Amino acid sequence: MAQREHWGSRIGLILAMAGNAVGLGNFLRFPTQAAENGGGAFMIPYMIAMLLIAIPLMWTEWAIGRYGGAKGHGTTPAIFKLLWKNPLSKYIGALGLFIPFVVLCYYIYIESWTLGYSVFSLLGLLPHPDPNLPQSQYLKPFQEFLTNYTKPSPTAYLFFLLTVAFNGYILYKGIKGGIEKFAKVAMPTLFIMALILMVRVILIESPNGTAVQGLDFLWHPNFQQLTNPKVWLAAAGQVFFTLSLGFGAIITYASYIRKDEDIVASGLASASLNELAEVILGGSIAIPAAVAFFGVMNATEVAQSGAFNLAFVSLPAIFSNLTGGNFLGFIWFFLLFFAGATSSVAISMPIIAFLEDEFNLSRKLAVTITLIFMFLVAQIPIFMPKALDEMDFWAGTFFVVLFALLEVVIFFWLFGGKRAWEEINRGALFKVPRFYYFVLKYITPLSLFLILAAWSISDLPSKLAHGDLQEWVARFVMVFILALQMFMVYLADRRRRKEG
Ligand code: ALA
Repeated sequence: MAQREHWGSRIGLILAMAGNAVGLGNFLRFPTQAAENGGGAFMIPYMIAMLLIAIPLMWTEWAIGRYGGAKGHGTTPAIFKLLWKNPLSKYIGALGLFIPFVVLCYYIYIESWTLGYSVFSLLGLLPHPDPNLPQSQYLKPFQEFLTNYTKPSPTAYLFFLLTVAFNGYILYKGIKGGIEKFAKVAMPTLFIMALILMVRVILIESPNGTAVQGLDFLWHPNFQQLTNPKVWLAAAGQVFFTLSLGFGAIITYASYIRKDEDIVASGLASASLNELAEVILGGSIAIPAAVAFFGVMNATEVAQSGAFNLAFVSLPAIFSNLTGGNFLGFIWFFLLFFAGATSSVAISMPIIAFLEDEFNLSRKLAVTITLIFMFLVAQIPIFMPKALDEMDFWAGTFFVVLFALLEVVIFFWLFGGKRAWEEINRGALFKVPRFYYFVLKYITPLSLFLILAAWSISDLPSKLAHGDLQEWVARFVMVFILALQMFMVYLADRRRRKEG
């Protein structure tokens, strides 16, 4: 068996894992979700979901990954088989390849918009309409710019190619020489850029409002909202998305950790960095800027128009009206690009590690095959926007929760609660409080089951009842990808057994 790579340092590991987690979700998804779901009151279900679902699952994924890595496997088809000796386990594990791969195929395209927009901002190529126009007319050129860009335009395609090449370069360089090195530069830079924006946003004052009113708008608690189950589901969905749980990506990163290294503390450190980026920085940029510029009434509309509109229409419109706006716009989009890139390399890794570990391919060949395959599939979300939404619903939302439920059941019930608990705590300076044993065994799986059941009742029937051509293309391609990956899992397993 070829020697597997390891992270070079603990700080490198923590930054890479934080990079895996910190993404577009922190700066766009979180503030819009909070604003729509009760403001400050949203933080109550958010914190509860964080403590009872996200943090325990995060430790579970770190432990599963480290356990597999010590035995030469970095992905769930082989690791699930180690944990649960059943012919089904490896095929369930195939979801750990399917989810990150499908998400990668559209995530990297959206990431490429942020690179494109950062260059446009720097060169002053984004619209500069007269700020005295009424809001709808003022925003219109930005909206049109986005529509023309994402048609897709040749420029959008060029930036997509550049983004793929950039990701490919980091991945070719490997864990220590590529991903870890990049995280050590990207994460501190990202935090500095976010701080600069936060300070600048706090100083915005317009006839419509101030950023302090924006903070009040975002954090003012509306406790009545807590009786609405949708708010609880939104909070659970957000903690999942933000920590990249159920994507298979944490498991693969964790497989490069040394056998007895402390994962309890490192896991908490990376999750804390993510929360800092989400709640403090993510909460202090986009929404406060929108309130300061458009006023509370109109900012509500902005928040409801969704994360993309906030990022690519409202924020450039606000910056365009400030001194040094081109540079601020550049920082905003480059911050999003770094946040996206540290996550896209992470979700690329499961399939690469699978090809390396299970078929003995070299890193370079595994990366090349993954990128070519990704490039081909990515044409679907690039040219079919509805297919993108469909892929996001299944791979990026539904299967993520299902997979997390399967993970925790396999680890805590089929592998065994006692062994799983020891595996999490091995090498830890401070052990996880005993209370979490019961959380992991009962509360986390039960909560995940309830979330899935609630979603299945509220969203699935309408989702399955209709579908236009684009949605059907996406469904067909996803079924094809899953079938192909299961076939590869079968081949890999047969190969292992032959080798004995
Ligand atoms: N965790 C990543 C994000 O927040 C996927 O965008």
